Amino acid sequence: MSDPVSSEPVLAVDGLSIGFQSRRGLLPAVRELSFSVRSGEMLAIVGESGCGKSLTALALLGLVPPPGRVIGGTVRLEGRDLLALDETALRRVRGARIAMIFQEPMTALNPVLTVGEQIMEAILEHETVSRKAARERTLALLERVRIPDPERRFAEYPHRLSGGMRQRVMIAMALAGAPAVLVADEPTTALDVTIQAQILSLIDELRREQGTAVVFITHDLGVVSRYVDRVLVMYAGRKVEERDTRDLFSDPLHPYTRGLIAAQPRAGAGAASAVRERLAEIPGTVPALAAMPQGCAFAPRCPLADARCAQAVPSPRRAGSGLVACHHAGETHAV
Ligand SMILES: Nc1ncnc2c1ncn2[C@@H]1O[C@H](COP(=O)(O)OP(=O)(O)O)[C@@H](O)[C@H]1O
Ligand code: SF4
Ligand SMILES: [Mg+2]
Repeated sequence: MSDPVSSEPVLAVDGLSIGFQSRRGLLPAVRELSFSVRSGEMLAIVGESGCGKSLTALALLGLVPPPGRVIGGTVRLEGRDLLALDETALRRVRGARIAMIFQEPMTALNPVLTVGEQIMEAILEHETVSRKAARERTLALLERVRIPDPERRFAEYPHRLSGGMRQRVMIAMALAGAPAVLVADEPTTALDVTIQAQILSLIDELRREQGTAVVFITHDLGVVSRYVDRVLVMYAGRKVEERDTRDLFSDPLHPYTRGLIAAQPRAGAGAASAVRERLAEIPGTVPALAAMPQGCAFAPRCPLADARCAQAVPSPRRAGSGLVACHHAGETHAV
C-alpha cells in the first residue's frame, strides 16, 4: 500500500501566540507555536494541564473565547489563513474543512435532538441534499464509527448512550462534512482504558482510510504512542520538543519529555511498580500565566537547570527528526 501521508501540509501553524488581557498587561498563554500536519498524518500535542493545548485547539477553528485572543501568527488550512477570515467565512470552513471533537461530548451534543437528527443537521448544514439522502448518509456514518444497530441508535437521545458511544456520535458529526483536518482535544480522557483504545483505533482507521489529518491533544503520552506519527511536547505555552514518535521514545531530549515518559504507568504494571512510577513523577506544577519564570519556564522543576536557564528562554534547534528547545538538551544529570 502507498504511504497515506502526502508531502504538502494541509494545516500549517506558524508563530501562533495567544494571550489574555489582564490588569498587569497582556499575559501570553501560547507563544510562537509552529507545527504542520499532512493529509493522513496524526500529530499528538502533549503536555500537562495548563500548558495551552486547548487554547491552541480552539485557535485552529477561530474559537478562542474572550478574554483570550490570538495575538500573532497564522493558521493556514489548505493554504488559506483562517485567522484572517471573518466570522461568516470561518463558519463555512468549520465542520466542512476542519472539525473538532472534545473531551465531554454532552457539552457539544443537543440533549433534545435524537442522535440521528443532529448528525442529519450537521450534513444539511454543509450540503444541499434531500432529507432522505441525509438520513441515509447518517446511517452510513453511524455504521462507519462502529455504532451497532444504527437504525435503533438513530432515534435515541444522547443521554441514553454510554460515554464511548457518545464520543462515536461526536466523531460521526465531525465527519459529516468530510473535513480535511480533525482536531481532537482529549477525546478519550473521560473514558475507561478499553474504550479509550477503541476510540483511538477508530480515529486511526479513519485517517488511514480517508486521509484525514489528525491533531490529537492529550496529557497522556502513553495513550497515543501507538498511533501517532509525530509528537509535539508543549510546556507553559511553548513547544519544547517535536520529534517522530519512535525517536521521541527511544531518545527523548528535553528534560520535560523525559519526565513525561518516566511518569507513564506501563501496561500491566502491578501495585509495586505503580508506587515506583509515582516516584518518577515530575515535582511541582505548570506555572500560572501571571507567574511565568523569566528564563526557561521549566527551570523551577528541572534537574539540569543552571544560571543560564534562569535567565534566557532556550530557542528551538534542530535535533534529528525534529526540534528541541533546551540549553542542555540530551544531557543527563548526575544522581
Ligand atoms: N478564560 C481564561 N482566563 C484566563 N486564563 C485562562 C483562560 N482559559 C485558559 N487560561 C489559561 O491559559 C493557560 C492554558 O490553558 P489551556 O489551553 O486550557 O491548557 P490545557 O488545555 O493544556 O490544559 C492556562 O494557564 C490557563 O489557566
Ligand atoms: S533550558 Fe535549562 S531549565 Fe529549561 S529544560 Fe533545559 S536544562 Fe532544564
Ligand atoms: Mg485542555
